[in-house]
Amino acid sequence: MSLILVTGAAGFIGSHTTDQLLAAGHRVLGVDNLRTGRRENLAAAARSPNFTLREADLTTPGLLDTLVAESRPDAIIHLAALVSVQESMTNPDLNYTLNVLATHLVAEAARKHQVPRLVFASSAAIYGDTTDLPIREATEKKPISPYGAAKLASEALLLGHGAAFGFTVRCQRYFNVFGPRQDPASPYSGVISIFDRRYRENKPITIYGDGQQTRDFISVHDVARANVLAATRPGVSSGAANICTGRATSLLDVVSIFRRHYPAAAATAHAAPRTGDIIHSRGTPDTAAAELDFRAQVSVADGLAELIRTGR
Ligand code: UD1
Repeated sequence: MSLILVTGAAGFIGSHTTDQLLAAGHRVLGVDNLRTGRRENLAAAARSPNFTLREADLTTPGLLDTLVAESRPDAIIHLAALVSVQESMTNPDLNYTLNVLATHLVAEAARKHQVPRLVFASSAAIYGDTTDLPIREATEKKPISPYGAAKLASEALLLGHGAAFGFTVRCQRYFNVFGPRQDPASPYSGVISIFDRRYRENKPITIYGDGQQTRDFISVHDVARANVLAATRPGVSSGAANICTGRATSLLDVVSIFRRHYPAAAATAHAAPRTGDIIHSRGTPDTAAAELDFRAQVSVADGLAELIRTGR
């Protein structure tokens, strides 16, 4: 049994990661400022004697240092972030604070208190709008948002710290994650969370463009399992890996799956493509398979069926 410190534990990916760590018999110390995370995401975790939540902001002076000094975790999974690409455009300062400065503070706490392993929530956003598909880890990184830039900078900060001070760093480049507890509140939320809510409320969905655009949609359950492996699997060394399925699913495919579950749904509305929208995105899953023994297992059809069945 290990003790894992999970930042952003009340978030979409953080709460599923916490649930899986607890199910595997680990203890979890969660930290979350509940800015975008929600306490209700941790309803199941809160019933476990192996879980503690600390409601706090990572950038509070001395907070991380004290927390890590006192708890001495076996690994840190750093998922706390400003998660909206759109918000990083309207508030680049906050993006810097939450997505770069906070990461540096985590790295420093790991160094000072000899935490042996650190797992970081990176993103396919570091690759920008590349058309060089499938996206490999070596594909050129050209972020096109403050969010993507911050994730790329954080990877460099962490890998440099790990190499200099002797701890393992795993950067997890998540592709399009979907599943229960994802927040559908903004028009820029993940498309599946938006569609799920619209169908549930019997409102029409809107497809931007012709719907032939594709994404590498990965279930949050797979992503959480990749995080558990990165934090706890013996013999893992530092590196970065795409966390993806390697499969492309078009928006039309997603809609047809939804419509099987909602045969009486309102007609789909169509609108012009979004500016800056990329047409295709798909990653190679081979590095995560080789270095973490991680392979995605949940198909889009099964993941959507579960989302529709269980709701948030
Ligand atoms: C992701 C980011 C986005 C960022 C982009 C950069 C998320 C949730 N979104 O977008 O903020 O600018 O990377 O490459 O991380 N769509 C619809 N109808 C809707 C909502 C979306 O048709 O109601 C379409 C979009 O136009 C897009 C596709 O669905 O073609 C997927 O959208 P989204 O879930 O936002 O993911 P990304 O496009 O990958």
